Amino acid sequence: MFVGLCRLIVATAGLLGFTAGFPLAASAADASPGLALTVRSGGLSDHRLAEGIALFVPAGQPVTPFVPVGPFTAIWTGEITVDLRGDYLFHAAFNGRLKLRINDAPVLDAEGLSPSWIESPKVRLNKGANVIVAEYSAPPQGDSEIRVYWSAKDVAFNPIPLAALGHRPSPEIGQSALLRRGRDLFAELRCHRCHSSGGSMPELAADAPAFSGIGSRRQAEWMARWISNPAALQTGTPMPALFHGPEAVAQSEAIAAYLASLKSTAGPPQAPIPSTPSADSVEKGRALYETLHCVACHVSPEGSDPAPSKVSQKAVRSKFSPGSLVAFLRKPSEHYAWIRMPDFRLSLDEANHLAAYLESVADQPSGKTLPSDEALILKGRSLVSGSGCLNCHSLDVPNAFRTKALAELKPEAWSRGCLAESPVDGSPAPRYSLSAADRAALSAFGRSDRSSLDRHTAADFLERHAVSLNCRECHGKFEGFPSWDLLGGKLKPEWAARFLSGSEPRKPRPWLESRMPAFPTHARWLAQGLATAHGLPPAAAVDDPPDADLAKVGHKLVGASGGFACISCHGVADFGATQVFEAPGINLALSFDRLQPDFFRRWLRNPVSLDPNSKMPAYFDEEGRSALSDVLGGDGPKTIRAVWEYLRLGSRMPKPE
Ligand code: HEC
Ligand code: HEC
Ligand code: HEC
Ligand code: HEC
Ligand code: HEC
Repeated sequence: MFVGLCRLIVATAGLLGFTAGFPLAASAADASPGLALTVRSGGLSDHRLAEGIALFVPAGQPVTPFVPVGPFTAIWTGEITVDLRGDYLFHAAFNGRLKLRINDAPVLDAEGLSPSWIESPKVRLNKGANVIVAEYSAPPQGDSEIRVYWSAKDVAFNPIPLAALGHRPSPEIGQSALLRRGRDLFAELRCHRCHSSGGSMPELAADAPAFSGIGSRRQAEWMARWISNPAALQTGTPMPALFHGPEAVAQSEAIAAYLASLKSTAGPPQAPIPSTPSADSVEKGRALYETLHCVACHVSPEGSDPAPSKVSQKAVRSKFSPGSLVAFLRKPSEHYAWIRMPDFRLSLDEANHLAAYLESVADQPSGKTLPSDEALILKGRSLVSGSGCLNCHSLDVPNAFRTKALAELKPEAWSRGCLAESPVDGSPAPRYSLSAADRAALSAFGRSDRSSLDRHTAADFLERHAVSLNCRECHGKFEGFPSWDLLGGKLKPEWAARFLSGSEPRKPRPWLESRMPAFPTHARWLAQGLATAHGLPPAAAVDDPPDADLAKVGHKLVGASGGFACISCHGVADFGATQVFEAPGINLALSFDRLQPDFFRRWLRNPVSLDPNSKMPAYFDEEGRSALSDVLGGDGPKTIRAVWEYLRLGSRMPKPE
């Protein structure tokens, strides 16, 4: 098996152009960020970008959705670029088998049983690009895990940063990316709701707004326009146009009349806002809109910035019936769990101000009223029942719509029907407004065996929803927000899941005017992905047993008398920081619940190596020795462990001196 792998590496290296005498510095210039990763299992392979050498695959799960569950191999290839020539150490924690080669020389070749760290001998890295190849074979059963870090004289023990990694884009990566995109689109556009398929991909459960009581929440005239052409009102919406031809407008109006008749039994939502909100309320709403960074996902309501991926709010006055905009803002997922609009846990006042502001800048409604006689409503009901609406939307009415199941859609049919480039008159297929690239991706998926729908990994989920939910539009864009690169491998998945779902009442950074909005439906998988993509288990590992003596030392270390005076910036439980103006730090009583121990150790050892802008001082020298040489003999790792033992007391941490 390993002979086979080695031959493959040689072949890959040749393909990437790393032949003897190749000018390495020049090759670094045209490399793309990250490493190329190839995984193989059960005779299938998948190719993708990797931000580093790390994987965690729980027992019984596939390494990616595109290969079957079972023992797998993973090969990372590319180059490490450093500014100065120097000696580096490579560190690996893994089970299974790892072979690491740098510039074609073996650096590590070991079988790991329990993932404790092993270290390479010193490796000379040249200035510029150095070829790296890491081959990993997962153990035959159980969880599989691997993390490769590096360190050097001036480089702290950390994952190799993305900025140092590069690779040559290969046709295989391009093809795998197309297939991935096709699978994502298939789920996001809810194709399986009509072309039924099994599968365990979480998004296959994605719903659409419930119809029950919709007449109290949405206005008829807007619904008619929406139904006849959803993409015209919101680019990228998953809802297709189901009616075409001369009858389309009349059909949409009949349905709108029927839906408008479905009133909520709970009465009108919320107290209706005053018909003319005060100028003060509008102003407060505008300010809130800014502090909460709604523009991360929305077209600025007053600017003219037509970003195609951002959602417009210009139609709120014609779409929402009075009072229901406030209800929507306070709980976007009330009638539609998979909505991408997050929950900011707005107070009633905040929601009223935001609604007042949005209404003040929205387009004027047309004022048109639609006919709503009994016959029209009956026609609408029968259209809803027979047109496929109920494949996506829920309502207590029989669904008379049927079409071919996914298994019946032949590979060669994936340029017809819903994927036809120009729709065929008289075809019963719904119309999507897909770009050529999206059609190509869907058809690549259609030509695959489609078994990927039945496989799921949290790391893949995170990757696609970090994009669909615009995480990077806030993280990394605004001062004081944790940067996106820092989040992976930082938090215990249990904390992250509570925090992302909005059920964690403690706000880590109470000094920020902004807040992290909640994504309750996505939270669990996002939180797991932030761990597994960085080689950590989807549930926090059990820590060593507590050590009360060390905790006492830690208590002293955190305090100001004879300690590091961490409390000048960090509060501890109910005791506020003593010099908050310096650079506010997160209350240390939260640390144990929040942080992965691995992250804590690396952070305390050298904060600036993780966050170049961090104001938190370094307490350890290059060799890792503590600045307080009289405590624990200045032993760095022991000192860090002592602080951790104190932090793990959480809300019971005694007051620091
Ligand atoms: C509202 C239900 C509905 C949804 C949602 C839907 N389809 Fe269709 N699809 C149909 C109908 C109806 C046809 C026409 C079947 C026929 O011609 O008999 C069709 C036809 C097709 C065909 C051509 C089948 C053939 O044998 O000619 C393909 C391929 C297809 N759809 C793929 C998709 C994809 C991909 C999506 C998601 C982007 C999707 N469909 C979403 C109802 C739907
Ligand atoms: C993470 C991205 C994201 C953020 C941040 C966000 N939204 Fe949204 N919002 C969306 C998406 C996506 C939709 C479309 C939802 C749908 O109908 O599927 C939406 C829809 C809306 C709508 C309904 C618009 C319509 O015409 O249907 C309003 C109103 C709205 N958002 C207000 C806000 C406000 C106010 C904020 C800031 C407090 C905000 N949003 C922040 C993603 C976001
Ligand atoms: C393939 C799935 C699908 C089909 C089929 C479908 N819809 Fe939708 N519909 C959606 C989704 C998803 C949304 C949410 C809009 C968004 O996120 O952009 C939506 C939104 C709506 C809304 C706005 C609801 C709200 O609360 O804001 C109405 C009204 C609506 N659809 C009516 C219909 C009708 C009527 C039909 C049948 C003629 C239909 N839909 C067919 C998926 C579908
Ligand atoms: C509208 C802006 C915004 C968007 C969009 C956003 N975040 Fe956040 N996020 C924040 C803010 C602000 C904080 C800091 C909150 C605090 O500490 O009180 C935060 C904190 C976090 C944290 C905790 C980090 C820590 O060190 O405490 C995680 C994890 C996180 N966000 C993940 C995500 C993910 C995943 C997404 C996309 C699904 C996302 N965020 C989208 C604003 C945003
Ligand atoms: C000059 C101010 C300052 C001092 C002194 C300081 N820190 Fe920090 N610390 C920070 C800042 C700023 C952050 C980053 C906060 C953020 O992510 O928003 C931080 C982050 C942390 C974190 C991560 C917290 C989390 O939950 O995400 C820990 C743990 C931590 N510090 C521990 C310590 C310890 C232990 C000491 C003393 C040995 C210390 N800090 C001293 C400013 C300080």
